[in-house]
Amino acid sequence: MILDHDVVVLGAGLAGMRAGLEAARNGVNVAIVSKVHPVRSHSGAAQGGINAALGAGDSWEIHAFDTIKGSDYLADQDAVEVMTSEAPQDIIELEHMGVIFYRNDEGKLGTRAFGGASKARTYFVGDITGQALLYTLYDQTLKSGVKVYEEWFATALYMVDGACRGVVCIDMMTGELNLLRAKAVIIASGGMGRVYEPSTNALICTGDGIALAYRAGAPLMDMEMVQYHPTTLKGSGFLMTEAARGEGAYLLNRDGERFMQRYAPKMMELASRDVVSRAETIEIAEGRGIDGNVLLDLRHLGRDVIMSKLPQIHEIALDFLGIDMVTDPVPVRPGMHYIMGGVRTDTDGATPIPGLYAAGECACVSVHGGNRLGANSLLDTLVFGRRSGLASSAYVKTVAAIASGEEFLAAEQRRIAALMTRPYAGETHARLRLELGMLMDAKVGVYRDEAGLQEALAGVEQLKRRYQSVAVGDKSRVYNQALTFVLELGYMLDCAEATVHGAITRKESRGAQSRTDYPQRNDADWLKHVVLRYQDGQPPSIDYLPVTITKWPPQERTY
Ligand code: FUM
Repeated sequence: MILDHDVVVLGAGLAGMRAGLEAARNGVNVAIVSKVHPVRSHSGAAQGGINAALGAGDSWEIHAFDTIKGSDYLADQDAVEVMTSEAPQDIIELEHMGVIFYRNDEGKLGTRAFGGASKARTYFVGDITGQALLYTLYDQTLKSGVKVYEEWFATALYMVDGACRGVVCIDMMTGELNLLRAKAVIIASGGMGRVYEPSTNALICTGDGIALAYRAGAPLMDMEMVQYHPTTLKGSGFLMTEAARGEGAYLLNRDGERFMQRYAPKMMELASRDVVSRAETIEIAEGRGIDGNVLLDLRHLGRDVIMSKLPQIHEIALDFLGIDMVTDPVPVRPGMHYIMGGVRTDTDGATPIPGLYAAGECACVSVHGGNRLGANSLLDTLVFGRRSGLASSAYVKTVAAIASGEEFLAAEQRRIAALMTRPYAGETHARLRLELGMLMDAKVGVYRDEAGLQEALAGVEQLKRRYQSVAVGDKSRVYNQALTFVLELGYMLDCAEATVHGAITRKESRGAQSRTDYPQRNDADWLKHVVLRYQDGQPPSIDYLPVTITKWPPQERTY
């Protein structure tokens, strides 16, 4: 089947729904396609809050500076100015849409402190902020009349004369392949966290949109910048929100020492994530951890604060480790959480490919540079979701409809049919996915060096070769998850390869890229973005873009 819309949004998380809503408000025909029901999107896992400079004594310029310093000066400052100056209006709009943000004793919107921020500017709903935003935006999406294709899985972008004109998807309920033909496509499909094991990310975060855009010719930028969150639960890797430290929790080593005083004497546990994750890694490596972890101690906060402001992480620690954080400290370690890199866009979400836009974690605008501040991610999804919806809706008014697509859809049907009939040759997607995740965590994690990165590259290339013989175990059509898992693994391998190439290329330490063989930040040679372009069957081509500096020249970064 071929279905026509003006704008098709791939992904129904916060960026996707905000983009769809804005495009619909501008009078164009919009569809959102998602491999899960919208409220199952990974945005729902965001816990701690969303940043905006709304309070007395704060300003968007201070928020911008904190963000740029947090990025280790790799963020493009014009883009950061856009995000931080537009943040207040987006928070107010969310409140008017129906989000019940925390209010303080005076009945005003209240904030909590977050890492790397010089002011408490994080607005929140307990520790389920992403979930609260997601449900409200889903209500708005339903009200707007935007068509949602839920449980549709994207297999290819439809390109015509160098422009993006749609996306082919499997309707997972029937197994049928359909072409959603469009004048513009917005990729808002989130990150690729599951390229690493463990990760705070949902199992669905497999880099689908990033890989589809990359294969279609869109450049990826700063893929080496992978954020490790300092507090992920021992074993499972679940997120223990930074809001715990924002409310006053401590990090302790095996000697009961608040070790952050040796690494970030001013900001302590609320230094930037890259700084705290490195400190924990050193503590553990030097024998001051406990079974590969450090401790997150909330006991002094008391039951009332924990149960009113952090009830979800209380429940998670109890369910998964049997630990009641009211009475006992919780073992945590740094774990993969977020990618700062992604599909390169401008501040309207436009990629260099006509008709192709990207917003949210899959995009690299770049507002996070080498390290994202906590609670700037929800903000990024809303600001750049809205802007990409607006820009794409203006663009589609200049574009004529097309009648082609049948041949492309038929070719995609043949490709998937061939994959379905591939005989079993001993490789399973589950085995390869686990090997990939463990390799990336071991070699492309908090600390990296040339030897480890070369091992990672050889390993990913080997996994790519083995992937060619992975069979789809389930031959049925209805809800064939074996098929989607195999396709997801292909996306993950492309994302992993780009990440490793980026990390090998950048020969310095900046933000989340900490190379023990190049331990210093080197602005003379590396104050630039690493840009990768896909080459089928070959390593990506690599070039560079300058970092945009507006008001804040790079300085030494201390916390
Ligand atoms: O710790 C957290 O609540 C995570 C927030 C974020 O990544 O923005």
